[in-house]
Amino acid sequence: MNHILVLFGTIVAVACVTIAQAAADDCKIDYMANQTKSSKEYIAEGCYSVRCDNLSLTEVPKDYPDPPTNKSLCFLDLSWNNFDQLKNNSFVNAANLNTSLIRNLYLDNSNISYISSNAFLGLSSLLYLNLSGNNLIWPSGFGKGVFKPLSNLTYLNVKENNLQTFEGLGVELGYTKLGGIYAELCANCTFGKEFEQLEHLVNLSLSGRSKDACNVSVIHNNTFEGLTKLQRLWISSCNIEEIEANTFSPLKENLTLLDISYNEKLNFTRMNTALYGLRNSSKLQILNVNRIHNVHDIGVAVKGCDLENLRTLRALTTLHMDLNKIEIFEEEIFNPISMFPSSLRDLTLSGNRLSFGNYINFIHNATNITCLDMSRQHLYYDPFLYEHFEPENTQEESIVADEKCMLNKTLDFSKYTCNDSCFVCIPPNLRRVKWRKSFLNFNTEMNLHICGASKLLNLDLSFNLLTKLKGSITGLENLQHLDLSENYCSEVAPAFFDNFRNLEHLNISGNILGVAFGQTSSYLSNKIFRNLTQITDLDLSNNRIERFSDRHIFKGLRNIKFMYLHSNLMGDWKYAMPKSKSLKLLDLSRNKLSTLSNKLRAYLDTLCQGTHCNVSLILKNNPLECSCKTLPFLKWMLSTKVDVERDECKFNAEQRNISGNEALHTMIETLENKECLDKSWQTWTVGIICAIVGCFMSIVIGVVVYRYRWKLRYIYYSRNRRFNHEGFERLFENDAFVSYSKCKASFIKNNMVPSLEEQRGLRLWVADRNSIPGTSIAETITHGIYNSRKSVLLIDTDYLKDSWCDYEMNMVHVESTEAKRKLIIIVLMENIPLENLPINVMRFLRSERSLEYPEHGHDLDVFWTNLADEIMS
Ligand SMILES: *[C@@H]1O[C@H](CO)[C@@H](O)[C@H](O)[C@H]1NC(C)=O
Ligand SMILES: *[C@@H]1O[C@H](CO)[C@@H](O)[C@H](O)[C@H]1NC(C)=O
Ligand SMILES: *[C@@H]1O[C@H](CO)[C@@H](O)[C@H](O)[C@H]1NC(C)=O
Ligand SMILES: *[C@@H]1O[C@H](CO)[C@@H](O)[C@H](O)[C@H]1NC(C)=O
Ligand SMILES: *[C@@H]1O[C@H](CO)[C@@H](O)[C@H](O)[C@H]1NC(C)=O
Ligand SMILES: *[C@@H]1O[C@H](CO)[C@@H](O)[C@H](O)[C@H]1NC(C)=O
Ligand SMILES: *[C@@H]1O[C@H](CO)[C@@H](O)[C@H](O)[C@H]1NC(C)=O
Ligand SMILES: *[C@@H]1O[C@H](CO)[C@@H](O)[C@H](O)[C@H]1NC(C)=O
Ligand SMILES: *[C@@H]1O[C@H](CO)[C@@H](O)[C@H](O)[C@H]1NC(C)=O
Ligand SMILES: *[C@@H]1O[C@H](CO)[C@@H](O)[C@H](O)[C@H]1NC(C)=O
Repeated sequence: MNHILVLFGTIVAVACVTIAQAAADDCKIDYMANQTKSSKEYIAEGCYSVRCDNLSLTEVPKDYPDPPTNKSLCFLDLSWNNFDQLKNNSFVNAANLNTSLIRNLYLDNSNISYISSNAFLGLSSLLYLNLSGNNLIWPSGFGKGVFKPLSNLTYLNVKENNLQTFEGLGVELGYTKLGGIYAELCANCTFGKEFEQLEHLVNLSLSGRSKDACNVSVIHNNTFEGLTKLQRLWISSCNIEEIEANTFSPLKENLTLLDISYNEKLNFTRMNTALYGLRNSSKLQILNVNRIHNVHDIGVAVKGCDLENLRTLRALTTLHMDLNKIEIFEEEIFNPISMFPSSLRDLTLSGNRLSFGNYINFIHNATNITCLDMSRQHLYYDPFLYEHFEPENTQEESIVADEKCMLNKTLDFSKYTCNDSCFVCIPPNLRRVKWRKSFLNFNTEMNLHICGASKLLNLDLSFNLLTKLKGSITGLENLQHLDLSENYCSEVAPAFFDNFRNLEHLNISGNILGVAFGQTSSYLSNKIFRNLTQITDLDLSNNRIERFSDRHIFKGLRNIKFMYLHSNLMGDWKYAMPKSKSLKLLDLSRNKLSTLSNKLRAYLDTLCQGTHCNVSLILKNNPLECSCKTLPFLKWMLSTKVDVERDECKFNAEQRNISGNEALHTMIETLENKECLDKSWQTWTVGIICAIVGCFMSIVIGVVVYRYRWKLRYIYYSRNRRFNHEGFERLFENDAFVSYSKCKASFIKNNMVPSLEEQRGLRLWVADRNSIPGTSIAETITHGIYNSRKSVLLIDTDYLKDSWCDYEMNMVHVESTEAKRKLIIIVLMENIPLENLPINVMRFLRSERSLEYPEHGHDLDVFWTNLADEIMS
């Protein structure tokens, strides 16, 4: 019986080993070269890593993949396995592994509950050990002297375990060179005197990584006794309600950073108590107290007495007080006697609920502040979750914007201060102000004078409600960066930017300035950028711009380098080019360009005269055209030194990729050797046929009246016409007049009308539907043609035989020449041999836009889209 058991046991053991071995073969060699270097990973030349993560290993492998020549294994990732225990000698005598070269060892999330004393034997160079996410309990989960072999260990990560005390840990870690511990605070845990022997310990993170990971309501005054050398301490997200008065006093001499953010049950009063032990500190530079008030609290008024201890921190340069529901400050806070420490440079108050109060009149007293961030007032949104928080901490927090409250709390300058002329004084050393997403509104015609802003270089007012910039602002003459993006702005006074003489970067993207830019008589119209001679970056993207009424709008930009005009509705570019010789980027992507003007091409080429040229032009996502007409433009793209980014073009109503030079070259050859040749040959034949027929007709008939019959009819029927359409494109009643043969009536009713009117929102004039009863057919047709932007002729054999169709075709032609409108779109409904086409149709085919009705049903959608584009173009 016993023998059988032993045998069975052996078989199981062998099986397990085999499984573990087999799994170990799945370890992957990974060169660290392309990985991001974080402070905890010591990347060195000649190193490679082996990843054995997520393989359900139950034993540490004894065999690793063959090393690459001349490289040693330094990073060993064994995370996400299922080890339960780490046995003695887990790493020594493994094939292809020299333990004394391992620097980083990842053993996180591997269900480890016990580590034997000699488990880490041989790992004498280990710097970083990740044991987070296991079941380790201190001290019972660790064999005695377990850290002894790790004489060079610098960072230890034991977060998300179950250490219930830190007692004795200091002694055990005394064998190492520990500089940082990542753990979680536990109730009544203390770092006693024994930690004093950790000479190098300067970083301690005790923050909670998940909602309940760290749950300590009171931090007692003996907690950090032994950490006198500590320089940086993070205890955020720990549900702390109270920190006793002298808790931090042992740290006073060396602490430079303290983060007690995200302890919502703390408040400013108890923050003050917590800082008691750090009074008069000459070391503490950075203090993070973001969200130490409950989200559901009523607004907070910051009182002078709550900052009593903070004020004494004489080295404090950076203070983050975001997301605290601060509504007002007591005036005295910005008063000379009782304000923030004079050393403060960088203050963030974003995500609060600041409203205007008298403190505004004192704010300029905060003389040393250089960076002020007041973004996102009235939004309970955490902008700094990843910025100011401990970087390794990737706590997910629900991002809630409380819309109800935001909307009623608009900061209205006009209400607060004055009606037409206001003074605001700001701290004289301010260099950067961020005031984003705060529902700032500024739409009065107010003149704002800002004093004390001579050092202000950077002003970010994006995502507010500055809908009309009509007044003027003085005092910002030295400003270099101005961000007014995403403000729903539809009007800017021509003189608005006049005082921003040193502006280098201007961002007014994401507004709705298109209409204002396009109107000749607009408020904005001329010379809006006239004084911005220093500007290098101009962002006008996403503004629904169709055109600029001011042709010289960019002329004065002498130093422009980057122009962003993407995501607009521009159909062409006919503006005077900037005087700048240093343009590097012109982004015209996502517009409606079919080609580029000669002028723009020539300008870009002049920038590129030297041997190397670093000018880029972005034309992606434009309806570029590949046709005989645009051939010079296509050739230019191929030959120019300018880097042109492009994607597709429309060639005979289908999209062709021309992003590469080769594809473009092929396209040009196709056009030159086939399309355009054919056309020119056609022109030639048509020309000759025309000439012959013309001669023939004039000789044989020779009747002037006959020759001019269409014009005469046109004049006759257009006698009631009230206005010329030129320049009044919007006044057409219909988008397109449709001319078709009688037998196509059902096609019109069942296919064309649904596709163009119902799906694409166009308005068509269709004889069978739109004729007015009682008027003559001739008159109705003429009326239809006048009142439609385009005329679509659906040509098939029946059409060519139908006399009314002939009538329509000729009237359309006369209208197009008389009114100088490009209105004809030919659709060839079937394949008609060239020789059967009448001359006037051939003439149209040569000079007008034409499409072919597809033979295959699956091309129909593209066809209707193209036709709709042609009608709307
Ligand atoms: C390995 O190192 C030796 C001497 O340092 C050198 O001669 C050899 O070229 C190296 N081999 C590779 C593949 O780098
Ligand atoms: C590991 O080694 C230590 C020291 O040699 C020894 O005391 C301990 O019993 C060993 N543990 C196991 C599980 O073998
Ligand atoms: C491991 O690396 C060290 C340092 O390069 C070297 O001295 C030692 O001989 C190596 N050990 C083995 C077994 O290769
Ligand atoms: C983790 O280890 C414990 C024993 O310490 C075991 O009971 C449990 O099943 C293991 N968990 C998983 C997911 O394997
Ligand atoms: C090390 O532990 C942290 C938890 O503190 C974890 O986020 C990280 O992914 C671990 N590192 C690796 C390489 O697994
Ligand atoms: C602060 O750190 C320095 C350098 O590590 C050390 O010499 C000094 O003793 C520390 N201060 C206290 C109060 O321990
Ligand atoms: C710490 O707090 C206890 C009571 O909670 C108090 O008796 C003791 O004096 C305090 N020690 C210091 C140094 O403040
Ligand atoms: C903080 O909480 C304490 C106790 O609940 C209260 O007395 C104090 O007024 C609060 N301070 C602020 C600024 O809300
Ligand atoms: C802090 O400094 C002030 C004077 O600058 C002094 O009156 C006060 O006693 C000091 N407090 C502590 C706790 O050192
Ligand atoms: C905001 O104002 C509107 C109208 O002014 C009102 O209907 C709404 O109830 C207000 N919302 C809140 C949260 O006060």
